[in-house]
Amino acid sequence: MTAVGIDAIEIRTGKLRLDLPNTFAPVKGEAPGKYEKGIGIEYSSLPDVYEDIVTMGANAAKQLIDRKGLTPEDIGRIDVATESAFDNSKPVSTYIAGCLEQVYDGNFHHANKGERKFACLAGTQSIDDAYNWIRAGRNRGRAALVVATDMALYERGDPGEATQGAGAVAMLIDEDPDIVSLSTEQGYGSADETDFLKPNQQFPSVDGKRSIQVYLARMREALEDYESATGDTHPDDFVYFPFHTPYPGMVRKAALLGYRHITRGTEIEDALADDIGMQPRENGYADREAYEEAIRAYMDELKETRRYQEWYERAIDPTVDISGQVGNWYTGSVHVARLSALRAAIENDVDLAGERLLVGSYGSGAQAEIHSETVQSGWREAVEAVDVTPQLDARYDLDYDEYELIHDVHNHEKEADVEEFTPPEDEFVFTGWGRMNERRYDYIE
Ligand code: CAA
Repeated sequence: MTAVGIDAIEIRTGKLRLDLPNTFAPVKGEAPGKYEKGIGIEYSSLPDVYEDIVTMGANAAKQLIDRKGLTPEDIGRIDVATESAFDNSKPVSTYIAGCLEQVYDGNFHHANKGERKFACLAGTQSIDDAYNWIRAGRNRGRAALVVATDMALYERGDPGEATQGAGAVAMLIDEDPDIVSLSTEQGYGSADETDFLKPNQQFPSVDGKRSIQVYLARMREALEDYESATGDTHPDDFVYFPFHTPYPGMVRKAALLGYRHITRGTEIEDALADDIGMQPRENGYADREAYEEAIRAYMDELKETRRYQEWYERAIDPTVDISGQVGNWYTGSVHVARLSALRAAIENDVDLAGERLLVGSYGSGAQAEIHSETVQSGWREAVEAVDVTPQLDARYDLDYDEYELIHDVHNHEKEADVEEFTPPEDEFVFTGWGRMNERRYDYIE
């Protein structure tokens, strides 16, 4: 069976950044350590006045199309994943296609376009749709463009403000991909939850602490479901474990839980037993409460073991590097985690071809999905081409007053007339509203 998966990736970060430990924390009366160690985000990326989910998505897509030397006719499908959409009818993919048609000969009139919604999970679901479309033989040799684009803004003063971010990830899904192929096996953990939602409102209603528990519970169910299809997983089966990363501190919690699960009943559990005992089994306890207490005590010890820490440093830490520099990109976040890991492998001169990743996506509301990916031979060249560092380094540093202004600019309830902080160059920009209240865009040379 021909491999289907991710052939190319490009990102577009919001062009502004807010230094959380040094600019945000002092005004909030918080210690920098909360951001440096606890949350794990150093900078939030934020959009300049002329940026939004369309410009970031279209700019990422253009980079990808240019680098791959594609024409619009090579693309048979454009799916946008977002939880920041501004229209309940017209999908963001039509705006992005419209932008791209301003700069390319040809058009996307025969590409199937849509918009996927399931909170942060939708980027992965859009990849699924593309995979299924190709596997079903409906693509006529064409590739699918998936764009995960979001402005993860919270109401001022909401605890989530500490995890904001804005950016887009464009991915080309194709046969014989250069970067990773996708497993047919998937696991799901899904339940009707109210951890984080936006009922016809721009900024989310969030039950922050509960959202952490819901994330962990759904992720565990998805892993069990995945294992029901593949058999047990083992830490050595996968070189990296990219997870949805609302902030690196969340991944720290998920990784510990995941490690306990995948080492249970293995030689690793036996080897650790001398130091921290065997993992508690529910049938050894009088009630659920006592069992859970024992699990918590075991995990406290597990996270201090050298074996766990070495695994974390090898398999998890490299996945959160970009996230710590940009904050939450919602639908793009797990795709940033994958990219982050692949870049780390290049930095450390590790050859990944043939190695596998275990990818854990999550969307509030809530659903987790787990699948594996196999790194392809063209991965290094494809990942080296992504200009992550130049984009991150070029961002404009906001002071606190400027942050307040830019938050107002992007707040749909406010009218704020603010000068741009960075000059637009060779990019799509938002120019204002048209007669039907549609958003309008131009390409600035
Ligand atoms: N030094 C070191 N660590 C510190 C510290 C210091 N000085 N001060 C605080 N910390 C640690 C805390 O101990 C905590 O770590 P643990 O969770 O491991 O205990 C961490 O920093 C965060 O501190 P708080 O818990 O006090 O932070 P908070 O209550 O202000 O907010 C939050 C945390 C609830 C996650 C909030 O940011 C939030 O609501 N975020 C939005 C929701 C979210 O991201 N949920 C994640 C799961 S849902 C999801 O994934 C979907 C999505 O994308 C939104």
